[in-house]
Amino acid sequence: MTYETILVEPRGAVTLITINRPKALNALNSRVLDELIQAFAAFDADESQRCAVLTGNEKAFAAGADIKEMSDQGFASMYASNFFSGWEKVTATRKPWIAAVAGYALGGGCEVAMMADFIIAGENAQFGQPEIKLGVTPGMGGSQRLTRAIGKAKAMEMCLTGRMMDAAEAERSGLVARVVPLESLVEEALKTAETIARMGPLAAIANKEMVNAAFETGLAQGIVFERRLFHGLFGTEDQKEGMAAFVEKRKADWKGR
Ligand code: CAA
Repeated sequence: MTYETILVEPRGAVTLITINRPKALNALNSRVLDELIQAFAAFDADESQRCAVLTGNEKAFAAGADIKEMSDQGFASMYASNFFSGWEKVTATRKPWIAAVAGYALGGGCEVAMMADFIIAGENAQFGQPEIKLGVTPGMGGSQRLTRAIGKAKAMEMCLTGRMMDAAEAERSGLVARVVPLESLVEEALKTAETIARMGPLAAIANKEMVNAAFETGLAQGIVFERRLFHGLFGTEDQKEGMAAFVEKRKADWKGR
């Protein structure tokens, strides 16, 4: 598969996906969305791939949805095409993936970073939902995911003022898992992805589903969901292998079944 706006490089069991529209600060147009949908679907379907990293460049992870593409749209065309709904296909990815964010992650860029299972940020990362300055609001889940990630006070302040949050504040606020030096960002994200890739693939998906249930449902429902998935893993060979390997003091040989 050849892509125009992204680069896809398998690195062992990890897929590195790079948004590649540097002249437009990686603005997310429909072509980027279509290609990311295809790349994530291919990653999910490829049994040799266990974790993915999505990144941009040093100046921008992505400076938002493509304003030039959207500016002439009207309500009827946005509503009829259910504009942005395609991003739900990206969030439907079952295997874990990490956003490695340097530079601007604004508007849709911040929203895509928050679609990842977690974010690792370079020291120069800047997060923001500046849509209010364009007379609109977030449209790819930003108002919901940002509020759940950092709480109402900061999310409301960011959405209402459009101000940017730097990497240090993003880490303090719980938006990013870790901040690393810019020059080692992709390497650190790949290393973390390799750690995940060495885990049993079924357990990786189940852990992802559980943490997402905590994010998306109520506590009582989430706890029952967690327990049922935990029970379910006892029907897999990987559970037998993982526990046997611990008892026998050896490395587990995961089968993904
Ligand atoms: N859409 C389209 N093009 C964009 C863009 C975007 N979101 N962001 C940057 N670009 C383009 C600029 O138009 C410019 O192109 P030209 O060279 O053809 O003029 C090029 O990228 C470089 O940008 P700047 O010259 O502006 O670079 P800068 O370093 O001076 O400023 C910036 C950087 C502060 C990030 C500034 O580009 C900016 O404010 N960008 C827009 C940020 C924004 O509002 N994002 C939200 C978009 S709406 C959205 O995302 C809706 C949603 O909910 C999904």
